[in-house]
Amino acid sequence: MKTDVVAQTFSGRKQSLIEDARRERGGGGGGNGGGAPGSPGPSRPGDGTVFEEKDGRVTVNILFALSSEKNAGFFKTGKIFETFEAKLLHVESRVGRKSKNCPSSDLEFFMRCELHCSDLDVFINSLKRVADDVRCVQEEQVPWFPRQIKDLDRCNMLITKFDPDMDQEHPGYNDLEYRKRRAAISELAFRYKQGDPLPTVEYTAEEASTWRKVYQQLRGVYPSLACRQFLDGLQQLEAECGYGEERIPQLRDVSAFLKERTGFQLRPVAGLLSARDFLASLAFRVFQCTQYIRHGSAPMHSPEPDCCHELLGHIPMLADKEFAQFSQEIGLASLGASDEDIEKLSTLYWFTVEFGLCKQGGAVKAYGAGLLSSYGELVYALSNEPQYKPFDPEETALQPYQDQTYQPVYFVSESFEDAKMKLRKYSANIKRPFTVRYDPFTCSVEVLDQPSKIQNALSQMREDLKTLHSALEKLGSS
Ligand SMILES: [Fe+2]
Repeated sequence: MKTDVVAQTFSGRKQSLIEDARRERGGGGGGNGGGAPGSPGPSRPGDGTVFEEKDGRVTVNILFALSSEKNAGFFKTGKIFETFEAKLLHVESRVGRKSKNCPSSDLEFFMRCELHCSDLDVFINSLKRVADDVRCVQEEQVPWFPRQIKDLDRCNMLITKFDPDMDQEHPGYNDLEYRKRRAAISELAFRYKQGDPLPTVEYTAEEASTWRKVYQQLRGVYPSLACRQFLDGLQQLEAECGYGEERIPQLRDVSAFLKERTGFQLRPVAGLLSARDFLASLAFRVFQCTQYIRHGSAPMHSPEPDCCHELLGHIPMLADKEFAQFSQEIGLASLGASDEDIEKLSTLYWFTVEFGLCKQGGAVKAYGAGLLSSYGELVYALSNEPQYKPFDPEETALQPYQDQTYQPVYFVSESFEDAKMKLRKYSANIKRPFTVRYDPFTCSVEVLDQPSKIQNALSQMREDLKTLHSALEKLGSS
């Protein structure tokens, strides 16, 4: 598409260039985003064209053409890049599509550059003044995802499906006192910002009583039905983190416990999160955790996550190093994934982390938190009644699941390790136009989309390998 912007002489005066381009944007006469009439207009951060935004700077792909009469325009475009302090990351030129048989006429240029976010509109409009057919090349649409741990403050999309204020089937729907109490505890999560001290809740005697019933009943069947990793984690929590039937553990204590063992930390959440937001937090080794407790009339089952589900079902497993790594890998695989892949990934999460079974010591054991926090379903899942299928991510990802009653089918892995390996392999094949890497020093996710970033990552790995090599040498010489 040709723009109708007539190339004008570039004055070289930065201020006038910027002002001219701003004027053009302001009174541009319609078009997308106020750009030149008939032009696609510069794309805005957030609409998918901008690939990466960090510290107020964006990376954009720009394509423009220069006809043979406007060869001088090439140097003028260079001046514009200089004016806006645009950092060039990649440059390509090729024969223009309209004149392939005549290389001396039109040329097309592709440039990938980084510049300040607020300059983007003016920068594009400035280019349009000296070049033809200026376009931001549409990147593959990549949904926003958190890059730094503080971005998790934006990962708060709640699903109100099982909210006692909205769902008549919720055991607490007719209990106004319960709903008020749940709302007050949820408010602590709404106010929480990453890095704040985790809020504590003074649980009532009634809430402690509900916890006690759940704890006693589940604790009795864990030794025969739960996997070894879960039992090890629970034993540590009982010995070192105050787990027991007498009191509901505080998130602050549990988070500190996990941080020391696997680097996982907790943050309070007001209810059931969207799959995308929940999985994204796992990429940062952050587990979003509810603090309210289920209604006292139904201690053995909760339609929504509550502190019994989190503290009993999930936390013991998150104290296991391999499981923690596995959980983070699912989270990293979800960043920027398509909606379709998020649905598949969350279904896999459902049938493994929430309702997974595995073979261990010649028997089938539970490792899923949905089972390990629900006495009725735990016993049912490990009885002869339900249908079992071997865990196969390709098939499991498409299996309809049940979130209001027991699962119609459970997937059994050959071992806990087998489930991890298969899910890891599946996650690695999720299609994205980039690869991400977690930096534990800065608690941030790095998008490996430039050779320099990959080089840096390799350098760090080399240093780690040297350390391991040195350790092996010392062992060999002792
Ligand atoms: Fe859960």
